[in-house]
Amino acid sequence: MAKEEGYRSRAAYKLKQLDDRFHLFKGARYVLDIGAAPGGWLQVASEAVGEDGLVVGVDQNPIENLELDNVETIVGDILDEETLDEIRELLPGSVDVVLSDLSPNISGAWEVDQFLQIDLARMALKVSQDLLRRDGWFVVKVFMGPEYEAYLKDVKSAYRKVNVVKPLASRKGSAEVYLVARHLGRGRRPR
Ligand SMILES: C[S@@+](CC[C@H](N)C(=O)[O-])C[C@H]1O[C@@H](n2cnc3c(N)ncnc32)[C@H](O)[C@@H]1O
Repeated sequence: MAKEEGYRSRAAYKLKQLDDRFHLFKGARYVLDIGAAPGGWLQVASEAVGEDGLVVGVDQNPIENLELDNVETIVGDILDEETLDEIRELLPGSVDVVLSDLSPNISGAWEVDQFLQIDLARMALKVSQDLLRRDGWFVVKVFMGPEYEAYLKDVKSAYRKVNVVKPLASRKGSAEVYLVARHLGRGRRPR
């Protein structure tokens, strides 16, 4: 279905479902998408913000050119300070939506994969606290495992409103959920 409709990945539908429910992009102009390759979420966000908006996608793997005027991409590891500097150069101080669909390369050793994934989600949380405008949206994928509850607690202490969602487009039986958070509270770090 994703290919037929011109989306790069089936992940695009997960974001569409989240947007249908939360209207993430209402009034949004600046969007950051972390872990953006191959680019399905970038396509959805690009449509949603329109030609006056800007969507910045970051991935350690190159994202094949989407030929969308309102999308810029950065090749870099989100755990590197250099990548964060590149993001800050492209986006203004306050971003409307921060998205993270970050996943490590799956080794198949579930505990290891879950641990690595939560580490990435922790970085996404930090980036959102740094860049998001106060009432912006933060959407982050999380693998559910031993570290999940502690991570959820961290997100809840940074944001006033946090929803835990399993999009219908997620594969049946997959242990991933999305946290959809809004209203940065005391966790915001001044820029
Ligand atoms: C599930 S895919 C994202 C799919 C994307 N949302 C879409 O719609 O096409 C997860 C991505 O996270 C990226 N990733 C994993 N670790 C990363 C890191 N440390 N820095 C940047 N990207 C990373 C992977 O390269 C992969 O492309």
